[in-house]
Amino acid sequence: MNSAPRILVFDSGVGGLSILEALRQGPGGCDFIYASDNAAFPYGLKTQSFLIERVDNVLKTLIDQTQANIIVVACNTASTVVLSSIRDHFKIPVVGVVPAIKPAAALSSTGMIGLLGTPGTVDRDYTQTLIQDFADDCEVIKVGSSRLVEIAEQSLRGIPPDKIEIGEILAPLFADDKLDTIVLACTHFPLIIQALKDASPRELNWVDSADAIARRVESLIAKRHQQQNLSKPSSVQAIFTEDSDEIDSLRKALSTFGCDDISFCEGIK
Ligand code: DGL
Repeated sequence: MNSAPRILVFDSGVGGLSILEALRQGPGGCDFIYASDNAAFPYGLKTQSFLIERVDNVLKTLIDQTQANIIVVACNTASTVVLSSIRDHFKIPVVGVVPAIKPAAALSSTGMIGLLGTPGTVDRDYTQTLIQDFADDCEVIKVGSSRLVEIAEQSLRGIPPDKIEIGEILAPLFADDKLDTIVLACTHFPLIIQALKDASPRELNWVDSADAIARRVESLIAKRHQQQNLSKPSSVQAIFTEDSDEIDSLRKALSTFGCDDISFCEGIK
């Protein structure tokens, strides 16, 4: 394929920016389209059937409008449910972001790891299968929090996270002092990593999926877009599924991710 990589990075909210950041460190010459389904945010409390239908509809509209040629579902909550159906429905490559349980299990010296995600992600069969396949010899403590997602959203709007509140959310992970590794199984959480570290009682390994996703996308680009101009700077635009005052308070943060071009997507059923 001779066209430039047009990469749709999709999440319910701002979380996928943590994945976009890793992708922006890769080859140049990419057109990134950051898409937030803010109309249906948050995903973490939605049913699986809602998410399957919703993500399919939103992606159809976004692909029609943007002509993206790679989809990155930068959301664990969605990826752990929708990947197989959207791979059936779209002809372009779909890269999913799922909890980094395998590297976390490999990194833990104590065999006790924490899984910090949305309530949806930590309860999924998909996640349970990852644990059985890659962390069978570990004890996995799960914490599902939608509040932490909101805290990350607010943080990008200039409202600093509250250390005491975060400490209370994380407390179940520290009931035993054996736990040494935490999987950030929600793309929102790397955006507040310093606040998470500050609220933790000791040094830990924090593991997320961003670098692995960036490597996967880079290999797709190398295979499918050999003619791209690597020296050309990449471009970034953001698309939201609903116009709202909330977007204005995000402009400054979006700009730090290279994104000053913000628009809204019409026509989603
Ligand atoms: N960023 C999403 C994830 O990785 C979840 C946010 C939400 O609940 O909408 O799971």
